[in-house]
Amino acid sequence: MLFNKKVLLFLIITFFFFSFKNKTIFFSVPSGFPKLVVPKENPITSEKIRLGKMLFFDKMLSRDSSISCASCHNPKYAFTDQLKKAKGIKDRTVSRNTPTLTNIAYNHSFLRDGVNPSLEAQVIVPIHEKNEFDFHILLVAERMKKNKKYVELSKKAFGEEPNPKVISNAIASYERTLISSNSRFDQYNFHGDSLALNASEIRGMKLFYNKLNCSSCHSGFNFSNGEIVNTGLYEKYNDVGKMRVTLDQSDNGKFKVPTLRNISITYPYMHDGNIKTLEGVIDHYIKGGEKNPNKDERIKAFNLSKLQKQDLIAFLKCLTDSSFIAR
Ligand code: HEC
Ligand code: HEC
Repeated sequence: MLFNKKVLLFLIITFFFFSFKNKTIFFSVPSGFPKLVVPKENPITSEKIRLGKMLFFDKMLSRDSSISCASCHNPKYAFTDQLKKAKGIKDRTVSRNTPTLTNIAYNHSFLRDGVNPSLEAQVIVPIHEKNEFDFHILLVAERMKKNKKYVELSKKAFGEEPNPKVISNAIASYERTLISSNSRFDQYNFHGDSLALNASEIRGMKLFYNKLNCSSCHSGFNFSNGEIVNTGLYEKYNDVGKMRVTLDQSDNGKFKVPTLRNISITYPYMHDGNIKTLEGVIDHYIKGGEKNPNKDERIKAFNLSKLQKQDLIAFLKCLTDSSFIAR
């Protein structure tokens, strides 16, 4: 029979593929990764991703059209800028270090202090921030309306002229595609390649998960439990972290546990970019941080031999995903 079951199945799948082409698309989540939760109001479509990507790389989002999102979140550096503190338009210095957007789709809170609950809302922050784009989302929409390509894409993706919702939903959709899941750690842990890590990296991994319990905070597939904590980086923080919004002393110096994926290229480290190297970060933990009334009780001094330190750093370096950076 010409129409055997396989052919029929193929036709059905092809039909669904094309009928969904313009609608919601489903990511195949990498093995070991949880299901991606996308807000009901903003299902992911290929048109939104396309528009969002164009906007992410477009300098017209800044007042003087000098920088784009990608100027600070540069794909080459795992969506960071490798600067101590970010630089906005007219060389203005932002008060914090640019975080990576690696697997940002899985975050539940945004900004270093986690005070912003939505990826869509986070799009507006840099546009309005004086030290970043120093602009306004309504004025970005006006600029888009003067560009035929943007009007066309906006109508295709949302059935609407460019407006703030179009901008934030499109960029958030693009950001949700920034999935990194192919580091050597993933190959070893999720893809069953027992040769992907060498002996030193495996020893470092054991230190990370067992003896040092780094995974009490840097846990799960994305190396973050999402908590906002004080790691005793300073006795007195210049940047008060979460307290900036809550005004509660007990939130002083509290910052979000960052992912450690692609950590070898997202230097310098911490909310203020004050630690230049991974070795410096380990030294901070060996010391148990500084005295601070809000310091998390999991941050305690410990001993580490020179070799163990090398092993731990070797493990952290195998969280780099070169295919992610090359995208
Ligand atoms: C001038 C550099 C700069 C530009 C331009 C910039 N960002 Fe950022 N971005 C930062 C910094 C610095 C932070 C951390 C800010 C904070 O914690 O207060 C950040 C935070 C974020 C976060 C939250 C990350 C997390 O882990 O919580 C997202 C998402 C983000 N930016 C997306 C964007 C998008 C989208 C654009 C363009 C519309 C953009 N950024 C433009 C520097 C920049
Ligand atoms: C109590 C929770 C907690 C524990 C335990 C912990 N960390 Fe962290 N880690 C954090 C937080 C929070 C930050 C960000 C602090 C900041 O921005 O000031 C961080 C930052 C880092 C960074 C820099 C990330 C970046 O992008 O700047 C590295 C690397 C790191 N930790 C590695 C480790 C290692 C290795 C261990 C175990 C020795 C460990 N952490 C234990 C909470 C923790």
